[in-house]
Amino acid sequence: MTRAVLLVSLVVLIAACGGEEANEAAAVVQPALAGVDDARLAAAADDGEEWLTHGRTWSEERHSPLTAVDADNVALLQRRWSFDTGTERGLEATPIVVDGVLYTTGTWSVVWALDARTGELLWKYDPAVAKEVGRRACCDVVNRGVAVYGGRVYFGTLDGRLIALDAESGAAVWQVQTTPPGESYTITGAPRVLEGKVIIGNGGAEFGVRGYVSAYDAASGDPLWRTFTVPGDPSKPFESEAMKQAAETWTGSWWELGGGGTVWDSMAYDPELGLLYVGTGNGSPWVRRVRSPGGGDNLHLSSILALDPDDGRIVWHFQTTPGDNWDFTATQHLILADLEIDGVVRKTIMQAPKNGFFYVLDRETGEFISGEAYATVTWATGLDEDGRPIEAAGQDYPEKLALVQPTFFGAHNWQPMSFNPATGLVYIPAQEVLGAYLQDPAYQRSELDFNVATHMNVFAAFPPEVASGHLLAWDPVRQREAWRVPHGLPWNGGTLTTAGNLVFQGTADGRFVAYRADDGRPLWVDHVGTGIIAAPMTYAIDGVQYVSVMAGWGGAFGLVGGTAARGVAVGPGVLVTWALPEAIPTPEQIEAYVTRTGELADGERAYHQWCARCHGAGAVSSSNIPDLRFAGEGLVDIALNGIPDTGMPAFGAELDEEDARLILRYLRKRKEETVR
Ligand code: HEC
Repeated sequence: MTRAVLLVSLVVLIAACGGEEANEAAAVVQPALAGVDDARLAAAADDGEEWLTHGRTWSEERHSPLTAVDADNVALLQRRWSFDTGTERGLEATPIVVDGVLYTTGTWSVVWALDARTGELLWKYDPAVAKEVGRRACCDVVNRGVAVYGGRVYFGTLDGRLIALDAESGAAVWQVQTTPPGESYTITGAPRVLEGKVIIGNGGAEFGVRGYVSAYDAASGDPLWRTFTVPGDPSKPFESEAMKQAAETWTGSWWELGGGGTVWDSMAYDPELGLLYVGTGNGSPWVRRVRSPGGGDNLHLSSILALDPDDGRIVWHFQTTPGDNWDFTATQHLILADLEIDGVVRKTIMQAPKNGFFYVLDRETGEFISGEAYATVTWATGLDEDGRPIEAAGQDYPEKLALVQPTFFGAHNWQPMSFNPATGLVYIPAQEVLGAYLQDPAYQRSELDFNVATHMNVFAAFPPEVASGHLLAWDPVRQREAWRVPHGLPWNGGTLTTAGNLVFQGTADGRFVAYRADDGRPLWVDHVGTGIIAAPMTYAIDGVQYVSVMAGWGGAFGLVGGTAARGVAVGPGVLVTWALPEAIPTPEQIEAYVTRTGELADGERAYHQWCARCHGAGAVSSSNIPDLRFAGEGLVDIALNGIPDTGMPAFGAELDEEDARLILRYLRKRKEETVR
């Protein structure tokens, strides 16, 4: 054994030992907490220790200034703790960490508060969403996380409620129904809180709804404003001038079909400009000839909207896909960044919506700065000087089937991207999926089921090779690819980038990988056992940097992928947290560890004396020889008598039954420490 190998295995052993102390310390965590206010949120960019809001800051860069874990040492990252969520469907949340507590959500809108150092469960809140609601969810019964503010934890539920919990106890303080009862609105997105207001949208455009976003008073839950994104019945008064103008871009009786334009995920906030940004979704139904038979852009489908957070008024809009016909939502992650373009620092907003174009806009005015295809785009030949797509002939499937790229899965979906100011790159969980669209002439509106007006069995006609994914590093100033890492499968996880020159991403096949942020070189991988779709996040407590991700396969492609999702990893839901080994131990520490006394130490010594050279150091098998952490009582007999005619020797001359039992005890301890 070389010295380096010996050291690494000792580090592993000692780190495992340190875990016990950390567990005891858990009891003293006082979650009297989450006293987050606007000043703290505004300063979040400078404070890498916590992760205070969904995208870490109001600008949503998902970039952490922490550098304890960096490109040079990330290879040593190891699991520090994990939390079994007990769930089996998609996990999409980004955890929030504040005051030593990690808050996150899972399937059916359940909320957990955990000790961020140990993963110990502090409390759990289950809003008891009726399971029938699952039928009204287009894309799994997922939830993308909470917001914390003023000692409270805010989250939306699949059945359309907004709930405020006490951050310390997990008890409900207030709840409001944000959607009309009986209609197929669902909440899967994370709320954002600013200036004492909780902002929440919802989904449902596959089920014939009309999109809107609302603000509630953070203290009382009182409704403050609601902004619709598409116009309603024009025979009734319009809610605003914006809706009156938008109605001029619609024809037919769209309001009877719903219209769509739901605000189901992305938001960002610029406190200096006083603008709240939201992305809006696709048309309902998908086929524009059905939705708006006389044509029209159908504002504000597939748009980025800048709102005045005081009253919800639409200050500017930018439509990415006028007259959406393909389920091209613009609800994808929005990032605010100041970029130097042509020698001038511009306040920009960036998005890589489903339609395949990467947009950079002036976030003060909504003016189009630049846009370029970041994936294969067949439905448009490019963008004009105002950023309006130039549609390609035949791609709107007038009479016959059209093969189109991107598709309803998007060249990028909700999985968050990240922006690193040092590399100047945006890291996009991108994908290439071929889609087929054919209008279904038998379409009838149904509130309970898919309402798209296209044939859905086109999926069944496809070979699996039509879908793949990759991590794409995009230069937003030059509007071109910097590098990419191909993944076999689409629907990989969101990204996190750090000042340690790192990008982290989970994959559909269950890997969690760290790459160099500047050139994409893979540096470290761990196998989590289930496909990862959520974005990782990072935080630091007492000088230790942690990296966490929710792992749980599901979501739209996760459920419907069929043979195109061949080879994905499907396992139980888990929140995994990694950290570096606490420290390279000193020779004195190593000696103290090696010579310590007690039954566990004796078992560990005996195991390493007699068994480890075949079954692996630390009781982790690294070969086809069985991993003894899973051994039962039968081990005692096998240890003494061996297994005849195999490579398993008999140790009856060296060990007695009591020695074998000590080994077994040590193995059980290691199982607890290392197997979730
Ligand atoms: C020289 C290599 C070697 C050493 C040393 C060794 N084993 Fe094994 N052991 C094996 C091999 C190979 C097998 C698989 C045998 C087979 O083909 O079923 C095995 C199998 C076992 C099994 C059965 C596991 C299962 O899941 O089927 C147990 C239990 C076991 N070993 C315990 C021990 C213990 C305890 C020690 C130390 C006291 C030890 N072994 C030392 C090589 C070794």
